[in-house]
Amino acid sequence: MAVPIPGRRVQRTNRAQGYVGENGLRLEYPGKKPVQDILSTAPGCYVPAETWGSGENRLYHSDNLPVLAALARDGSVAGKVRLVYIDPPFATAATFESRKQKHAYDDHLVGPAFVESLRERLIWIHRLLADDGSLYLHLDERMVFHFRVILDEIFGEQNYRNCITRKKCNPKNYTRKTYGNVSDYVLFYTKTDTYVWNRPVEPWDDARAAKEYDYVDEHGRRYKKVPVHAPGVRNGQTGGPWRGKMPPPGKHWQYPPATLDEMDARGEIYWSPTGNPRRKIYLDDSTGVPLQDIWMDMRDAHNQNIRITGYPTEKPSALLERIIEASSDPGDLVMDCYAGSGTMLAAASDLGRRWIGVDRSDEAIEATIRRLQHGTERMGDFVNGDPQPTTLRLFDTSDFTLYVETGSEEDSPAPDPGDVQADASDVAFQLAR
Ligand SMILES: C[S@@+](CC[C@H](N)C(=O)[O-])C[C@H]1O[C@@H](n2cnc3c(N)ncnc32)[C@H](O)[C@@H]1O
Repeated sequence: MAVPIPGRRVQRTNRAQGYVGENGLRLEYPGKKPVQDILSTAPGCYVPAETWGSGENRLYHSDNLPVLAALARDGSVAGKVRLVYIDPPFATAATFESRKQKHAYDDHLVGPAFVESLRERLIWIHRLLADDGSLYLHLDERMVFHFRVILDEIFGEQNYRNCITRKKCNPKNYTRKTYGNVSDYVLFYTKTDTYVWNRPVEPWDDARAAKEYDYVDEHGRRYKKVPVHAPGVRNGQTGGPWRGKMPPPGKHWQYPPATLDEMDARGEIYWSPTGNPRRKIYLDDSTGVPLQDIWMDMRDAHNQNIRITGYPTEKPSALLERIIEASSDPGDLVMDCYAGSGTMLAAASDLGRRWIGVDRSDEAIEATIRRLQHGTERMGDFVNGDPQPTTLRLFDTSDFTLYVETGSEEDSPAPDPGDVQADASDVAFQLAR
């Protein structure tokens, strides 16, 4: 595999006209609003409907746009959200029902209307994120490519981190003249280049470890040999000789000669019979296999023993746990403003994060409350008749307040003097047009 040599990236920033993405790409479509117009969205007014426990977690039963605009005025939230995961409708032009055939939500927006609706929300989400915060946007092949461009516009191309491919289901018997579709995607962006990152790893299994770490030293420690040089020419010490040898053409030593000497003294360098040095990397120094960007182990519920709420398009808890653990720390504030059955919120509670959830569907709010109070049910129970609720979590582990929209501003609490006002003057320069 060819290893590219990192070069300097050309950044085209025009402060007067605004940042237009590193490569200047934009997605144009009818009805695309100026950022300024989006940021003048009227904030919604909300009052607590019911409180479970005394925790500060918030569940909003509302369209998410006015909620996001209201949260941007809330000094305890704006700029403090460490992680946002959203799994919006995917522009399927379909209606979704729960397993008990109750209407859950309509996914009727398609084309430019879909793009603009989600873009508006993402602009607000960008404002709510902490400087070291992350966004994960779950979509499928219908809209993910459009949103790679839209998110580059909002977050800046330099803050794109990954497009994770998830295997969502087992192969099906496909009748269309195409390859079977078993994947969807999660776009991962961060607000800046300094962000919370707890590298996820998978444990080594014996076969894989033996294949990759294929040598054993005199103490029985498994290791592999890797080059001691890297691509690119350097003029300093790493470009000069070590032990009388120059790095190969077009390469440089990975460490200065003094460090290489120390490594050699510790027995960390292997010398081939022809005198070529290689670094020894030991298996027992590895915390596990760093997770890559194809996730095969996060399929949607696929057998009768898996616990679910029965809400349509519900994502697996393990997927959310992985994302929450990688991109936030205990005590952090996380948000899902397309919460559905509350998979993200329940996982956040379990992992000791504070959370904000939003959904406009009655069925979603019911499913979330049921899940937070009683846990989930075996998928099989739904098929076999009356489900027996299984109390997996008690509400004291998921303290939250349900907020509902109120028509009048008087009903909502007066803003805190420290609250942030949602004027457009401090819009991140990435957003300016
Ligand atoms: C794909 S589902 C989310 C499923 C969720 N990840 C889960 O695991 O259960 C999308 C959700 O977004 C909600 N939704 C769509 N548009 C919304 C909007 N403008 N404001 C609030 N919720 C919205 C729908 O009601 C639906 O529950």
